[in-house]
Amino acid sequence: MIYLEDKIFLAGHKGMVGSSILKLLKDQGFKNILILPRKELDLLNRANVEALLKSEKPRIVITAAAKVGGIYANDNFPAEFIHENLTIQNNIIHGAYLANVEKLIFLGSSCIYPKLSSQPMSEDILLSGQLEPTNEPYAIAKIAGIKMCESYNRQYGCDFRSLMPTNLYGPNDNFDTKNAHVIPAMLYKFHNAKINKLKSVEIWGTGKPKREFLHVDDLASAVLYILGLEKESYQMNTKPMTSHINVGSGNEIMISELAEIIMDVVGFKGEILFNTEMPDGTPRKLLDTSLINKMGWRSSIELEDGLHSTYDWLCSNLESIRS
Ligand SMILES: NC(=O)c1ccc[n+]([C@@H]2O[C@H](COP(=O)([O-])OP(=O)(O)OC[C@H]3O[C@@H](n4cnc5c(N)ncnc54)[C@H](OP(=O)(O)O)[C@@H]3O)[C@@H](O)[C@H]2O)c1
Repeated sequence: MIYLEDKIFLAGHKGMVGSSILKLLKDQGFKNILILPRKELDLLNRANVEALLKSEKPRIVITAAAKVGGIYANDNFPAEFIHENLTIQNNIIHGAYLANVEKLIFLGSSCIYPKLSSQPMSEDILLSGQLEPTNEPYAIAKIAGIKMCESYNRQYGCDFRSLMPTNLYGPNDNFDTKNAHVIPAMLYKFHNAKINKLKSVEIWGTGKPKREFLHVDDLASAVLYILGLEKESYQMNTKPMTSHINVGSGNEIMISELAEIIMDVVGFKGEILFNTEMPDGTPRKLLDTSLINKMGWRSSIELEDGLHSTYDWLCSNLESIRS
């Protein structure tokens, strides 16, 4: 049984994913959520992470802390991406084992799958081919996280579950046009173009690749669902899962169509210019979500609705966004 008084340690509560999970946990009535700012607990410090988990003894741990970024950041800071992600997840997962944590959620990403995968990408294609080179260090860290959870489940009987979300967007995202992912980068670019009355906005590539997007509040609901914390939750059998579960919307959209929707959402009246000198990246990237759908969870936020609410959030938080 899960009780609203159960102690839940949420790592990374200030990030896009962490803040959405925190809000949902509070909305569901959870009263004992342990959150600490980075200056009080640097998750890179193994001794401090282990000491915290041993003294606080949370029943559940959710890891929404990681070093995250777009292509530019991944390509330019590969050492930071592999070192920080491996260290944070090792500290939390091993610390959770030492502190007898009952359930843990580890979050990976769809970049764990091979670059030239057949689409949609199901869970079992993991480790069947070469990764995309620009974010390989990040992807290797995430794969190590899955394997670590799997190994702790197998050797120590833990119940550590890994979820692989598709591209996420929503409030508290990183809107830096250089470091951000596609949706926040476009929202901010179109917004600035509208404010500065520019005639056009440049988008990298041909606009032809297709991508899948999921609102962060949908991911938060999947995390609680898989943990068994939502009323309608899939009743996990008592045996821990052995691998990972994809979390996506199941829908893909062409980048050019996405740009047109965002232009409308923002109210930019100029032109979109596709810079075909810049690379397109992989033509399609869609997760196969049939496993989580069979478990009874599916996404509920339509892309256009999610874009409108994210843009509203951006406009209300322009002074404090990461940009
Ligand atoms: N964004 C996406 O599109 C996406 C897609 C798939 C999967 N995911 C996964 O979802 C998870 C969360 O991503 P996100 O987009 O929410 O990232 P985010 O907004 O950058 O948030 C990351 C959080 O981790 C914290 N953190 C990083 N290093 C830390 C450290 N050394 N000590 C303490 N806290 C630390 C950050 O703290 P500060 O606030 O102090 O910086 C921040 O709160 C990650 O595992 C990511 O791989 C994200």
